[in-house]
Amino acid sequence: MSSDFEKTVNELQASIMEDARKVYSEKVIERWLNPRNQGEVRNADGFAKIKGPCGDTMQISFKVKGGRLSRIKFMTDGCASSIAAGSMATELAQGDKLEEAAKISQQMILEGLDGLPEKSVQCALLASNTLKKAIKNYFDSKKNNPAKQRYKE
Ligand code: FES
Repeated sequence: MSSDFEKTVNELQASIMEDARKVYSEKVIERWLNPRNQGEVRNADGFAKIKGPCGDTMQISFKVKGGRLSRIKFMTDGCASSIAAGSMATELAQGDKLEEAAKISQQMILEGLDGLPEKSVQCALLASNTLKKAIKNYFDSKKNNPAKQRYKE
């Protein structure tokens, strides 16, 4: 990379970060740039994918061990706020009993992120709803498949 081009790219990045800091908390920016638990759990015990009113999707998959979420991941094609919200939802849920994780609300995700701009609070709701639906999917599949009646140890 030529040094002029490199300088321009660095200035552009600095300007984008400066704008982001006016709108987002440090916790949001940090998770947007370095999301936790991003990806998909293979052979998931619970799974859900939801499209929000904005048209973006959130997906959550997890494994259960001893009645707890032993491994949980999210994926989204949404905005910076949805990446941060998916990250925070899975961070809060990781290691929880399923019943506890099902109570993770939009408000809890917002508090974990030190808030989101008003126009983005729906992204936290999308993450919360996707988590709840994935947990419901887990219990529904247990109901429909007696072989999965017990928690995996
Ligand atoms: S998930 Fe669509 S605006 Fe954030």
